Amino acid sequence: MARDRSQYRCAECGAVFAQWAGQCTTCGAWNSLAEQAAAPAVRGGARQSATGWSGERTVVRLREARAGAPARLATGSSELDRVLGGGLVPGSVVLLGGDPGIGKSTLLLQTLARLADTVSVLYASGEESAAQIATRAQRLQLGDADLPLLIDARLEAILDAAADCQVLVVDSIQTLFAESVASAAGSVSQVRECAARLTRMAKTHGISVLIAGHVTKDGALAGPRVLEHIVDTVLYFEGDSTSPYRIVRAFKNRFGSVNELGVFAMTETGLKEVSNPSAIFLTRHPRPVAGSVVMATLEGTRPLLLEVQALVESSPLGTPRRLTLGMDGSRLAMLLAVLHRHAGVALFDQDVYVNLVGGLKVTETATDLPVLLAALSSLRNRPLPADLFSFGELGLAGEVRPVRGGQERLGEAAKLGFKRAVVGKLNAPRKPVPGLQVLALEHLGEIGDVFAQLVD
Ligand code: TYD
Ligand code: MG
Repeated sequence: MARDRSQYRCAECGAVFAQWAGQCTTCGAWNSLAEQAAAPAVRGGARQSATGWSGERTVVRLREARAGAPARLATGSSELDRVLGGGLVPGSVVLLGGDPGIGKSTLLLQTLARLADTVSVLYASGEESAAQIATRAQRLQLGDADLPLLIDARLEAILDAAADCQVLVVDSIQTLFAESVASAAGSVSQVRECAARLTRMAKTHGISVLIAGHVTKDGALAGPRVLEHIVDTVLYFEGDSTSPYRIVRAFKNRFGSVNELGVFAMTETGLKEVSNPSAIFLTRHPRPVAGSVVMATLEGTRPLLLEVQALVESSPLGTPRRLTLGMDGSRLAMLLAVLHRHAGVALFDQDVYVNLVGGLKVTETATDLPVLLAALSSLRNRPLPADLFSFGELGLAGEVRPVRGGQERLGEAAKLGFKRAVVGKLNAPRKPVPGLQVLALEHLGEIGDVFAQLVD
């Protein structure tokens, strides 16, 4: 019978094969196929819909199903509420991913301890003992919190214990195992099964479930990427381990916008909210330095100022280096080509390094203009004024294109005391902003003149 045969599942994309192979033909990953027993016929129920609407086949009319905005449960942390889109939605499942040690357990424990005052909660951990959690709680000054703990890695036990609570935390999905699945905890089939059944319970009982998940070295959630499809919201912790700042970014959100950021600082007593992030990402040098430009970025709905640094240095190599931290590396190569073609600045014999200070990853294109300004400043070894900031996208034809939220960016920078802006013409404010001089570019060809004007 086919059911009893093993099958092979790709740990990256979840595709199933009858035979083992060195490479997954679906996603191209190498060495990612792992053997597992074929799914059991009924038990477990991974074969039912992961959303939990199994069984009932009642057709409803959209008009009648309209329920208004979901009631949300404030988590007590304005930064976390912001990334969630306004708080926890009952019956929703949130996956909190991040490197080991970045602060997932800390954030979940802090949040749950706050919620425990008003709603019924459960903290289920398959990773740490009650004593370890208590030590952490003491450190977080939450030692007196009245928080029910369940130290168990069995999914069935957790589902049982959580049936009548409103908010459940599971730490972490990789340690959980369902008895109906034969493979080891952390394997693709276990992680999928556990996430699917937790999701089903969340939907049927209206429980908000928060799941911690570790990510692998290459940044994927360990185990299947399919997890991201099962849950409603995926949040990722970012930040480099040497800095105290931690960013929580929404990667997927069925109940709010993505790209919204929550900013925290890891302190002696746990994660603290940072409500004015520009203040931390912006380092001010005692005197202006070459290769440094402040950029105004817009993350979700919040403008944020941060420093872009570039170092341009003659290269001893045949193929000079292009290295970026915090932005896309191939975008830098493209920008340098545009700079060459449209502004006549050749960097083919120079190494170019770009760093977005503070560990933030910026994916938007408004970095283009500040990066090139910083590179020019480093190349010519001329510092730009400290009260200058910039943002703007570049096209391959050398045109400076507008980016969204120009007014918000200009406003935030003006509020923080910046006096000069280099932006695209279409982002220039229609009526002058008091105290702000705007240098508007239509084409990259003008950058040489603007630069000369600024460093004089
Ligand atoms: P943790 O929440 O255990 O990480 P994860 O669950 O993502 O693996 O993070 C613990 C790290 O944070 C650990 O390196 C110590 C540090 N930390 C503090 O700096 N202050 C604190 O109050 C706590 C609880 C942890
Ligand atoms: Mg942990």
